[in-house]
Amino acid sequence: MKIIVCKDYEEMSARAAALAADSVRENPQALISFPGGDTPRGMVHAFADLVNAGEVDIARARYVSLDEWVGLSNEDEGSCGLFNRAEFLSRLQKPFLDLHIINGKAEDIEAERRALDAYIVSYGPLDVSVLGIGMNGHLGFNEDGVDFGLNAHIIPLSDTTKRVMTKYFGEKFHPEYGISQGIAQIMAAKKVILIANGAHKAEIIEKAVRGEVTNRVPASVLQNHPNCYVVVDEAAAARL
Ligand code: GLP
Repeated sequence: MKIIVCKDYEEMSARAAALAADSVRENPQALISFPGGDTPRGMVHAFADLVNAGEVDIARARYVSLDEWVGLSNEDEGSCGLFNRAEFLSRLQKPFLDLHIINGKAEDIEAERRALDAYIVSYGPLDVSVLGIGMNGHLGFNEDGVDFGLNAHIIPLSDTTKRVMTKYFGEKFHPEYGISQGIAQIMAAKKVILIANGAHKAEIIEKAVRGEVTNRVPASVLQNHPNCYVVVDEAAAARL
């Protein structure tokens, strides 16, 4: 793991975006994936700025979303799909060649899961996977206890995730499941960038980076990834 401690959120966002942009420069036909949540807002803005400034060309690259709350579409407040559209894709003055955004509201969610797998099989492996970390160490919706061998899957949300999720959509939705790329797909990415900011993430970052590799803390699996960057602000790095 290459740990990059940044002075603040802006620097974390810019460093992560630059690392992701490098992957597209190395392979213009890259398949890339960014997370939803609060952490990546600055990173996706910074990446879009690089695209719009002509510093990275995504015309032949593809984008796939990481995860979604089952029951929410990309129209729904707090969904990862809406985050992707509103914070990232709508800012791009030049589009990706192609996109695959998970629809958590699909009538046939199992078909949606298969479609996510099929997309990554067709255009993968991922050149770069940017990830946030949940308070229980989850990556996407790879919750504590997840099988590290899984590809895309549908998984019951942990109690921790259910506590935290109200920050995205209050009491409006009560999802019980997530749909997510699996750890096998994340670990197959040529580059992984884990981002975290804020003092509330310090303890889980310590467990992920310095603790035992265990599916009780899914992000700890990244210790075994050959090309993983952990890009954190000083507050999140406080216990490292
Ligand atoms: C969410 C998402 C993850 C995200 C994580 C951290 O529930 N499923 O993809 O990385 O939890 O979210 P945040 O960045 O808001 O702390």
